[in-house]
Amino acid sequence: MPILLHLDSSADLATSRSRSITAAFADAWQDLGADHTVVHRDLHRDALPHLSDASLHFPARLRPAGATPAKEQEDLQDSLIAELTGADVVLIGVPLYNYSLPSTLKAWVDYIHVPAVTAPFDDPATQQPMAGRTAVLVSTRGATYDAGSPTEFNDHAIPALQLILGNALGMNVETIVATRTLTERFGGPAEEVAKQHAELAAALEAAAAAAKRLG
Ligand SMILES: Cc1cc2nc3c(=O)[nH]c(=O)nc-3n(C[C@H](O)[C@H](O)[C@H](O)COP(=O)(O)O)c2cc1C
Repeated sequence: MPILLHLDSSADLATSRSRSITAAFADAWQDLGADHTVVHRDLHRDALPHLSDASLHFPARLRPAGATPAKEQEDLQDSLIAELTGADVVLIGVPLYNYSLPSTLKAWVDYIHVPAVTAPFDDPATQQPMAGRTAVLVSTRGATYDAGSPTEFNDHAIPALQLILGNALGMNVETIVATRTLTERFGGPAEEVAKQHAELAAALEAAAAAAKRLG
């Protein structure tokens, strides 16, 4: 029973590109058969509370003496990690907000990146349960970040997720990108609007193809 964990984080419920691309992936996943399950978590509509206690970054045996994180936060963290480790593939909508991740998505990352539980710490053999599984990041950005342009490295969302999901959790990270998403709305030149449309169409196609390949 292949399980897709599908996370959205866009605060735009009307015209979000990342939501439409992740939906194309999830639809294609479900089309693969009745056994292909999707667990959908909307981090914007159903926002997680911020991590209330730094000691939750480690399991109980590695916390400072006397640490007493709230039981409900520990339970929430356990359930988010169980949801993650129960997934065969993880799909994440990552709109670029202020050159970084939406805070709603960052809150999820703060719960699930736990050294010695989901990432290596003192026993690398048993502490990367997600190693070898795939995370597909759907990156949407209002402006342009073309290779070779002065803004090429201004996206700090995807590199941070690559470090967490790829380096720390050991996942294979794939990225589907649509840039220039605000070009048409703000009356950009026709050539840029055409690029915006072409990137979105390619991203929708890439999402469906990735679901078929990974499912
Ligand atoms: C709070 C906020 C901050 C944003 N910051 C940036 C930014 O730093 N760079 C950028 O290119 N676009 C930025 N944008 C535009 C979004 O990246 C763009 O609208 C993108 O399409 C959002 O993804 P979505 O279509 O899935 O909602 C920002 C939008 C919002 C709402």
